[in-house]
Amino acid sequence: MIHKVSRLFSGVKPRGDKGSVELSRNIPRHVAIIMDGNGRWAKKRGLPRVAGHREGMKAIRRVTRAADELGVEVLTLYAFSTENWKRPSDEVSYIMKLPVDFLETELPELIQRNVRVMTIGSEEGLPSHTVEAVHKFKNETRHNTGMILNFALNYGSRSEIVQAVQSLMDQVEKGTLKRDDITEETFNQALFTCALPDPDLLIRTSGEIRLSNFMLWQLAYAEMWFTDVMWPDFNEALFKEAIAAYQQRSRRYGSVE
Ligand code: IPE
Ligand code: IPE
Ligand code: MG
Repeated sequence: MIHKVSRLFSGVKPRGDKGSVELSRNIPRHVAIIMDGNGRWAKKRGLPRVAGHREGMKAIRRVTRAADELGVEVLTLYAFSTENWKRPSDEVSYIMKLPVDFLETELPELIQRNVRVMTIGSEEGLPSHTVEAVHKFKNETRHNTGMILNFALNYGSRSEIVQAVQSLMDQVEKGTLKRDDITEETFNQALFTCALPDPDLLIRTSGEIRLSNFMLWQLAYAEMWFTDVMWPDFNEALFKEAIAAYQQRSRRYGSVE
């Protein structure tokens, strides 16, 4: 199948051979993905929305392999937002079972690849089987030293920022932190992502051009790449296309070249 890529948003058109990845340089350390379009993928095929979520797990496997093989250090995948609780309860229940299935099928390969699983987001409100699967993932991979596979699960950036403010306030009230010690660094330390570098590249599938409450602080200087392809159709070639586009970008951080 030929996928139409949003040219306008996929960055400078790569020169030469449709932008092959240069493995020797400038691989983004941290790639974050808003995996979107599962429902529309299913609808187009006359299937229930949840069939798209199931198929989307295969795309997670493909992209995890590709990222690991390219030498990406952190791959963050937006799996469930704090706003996704607004969906019908049978869809939410289905999504909450996927970590259990993913654990069963993917854990051996993740261990063999030396991948460490992390999560960002709140455990509060998650069903116990979901929390148990997440704990097992983290526990069984905690000594791994390779790529970090970070799932944003029950994650919302605004609530993360509010929690960070509250935790800094608590420290100020206890007298363990001074007001003037609240800096970008200490603020960063109070976020779920404290152990991670900021994303260098953000990918969103399905043609939507928005952040949907994802990593608002952390994406301040990320390069962004959008595609019309629905998440279940996302593959290694598209991932490489995004990275090749990233490699053509000039990151200035407000300075001049
Ligand atoms: C992304 O696909 C998965 C989650 C948000 C859990 P969607 O379920 O949002 O699919 P669309 O956007 O409705 O097609
Ligand atoms: C963002 O997708 C959340 C995830 C991919 C988990 P949504 O489908 O929930 O976002 P909106 O509602 O289109 O903004
Ligand atoms: Mg969506």
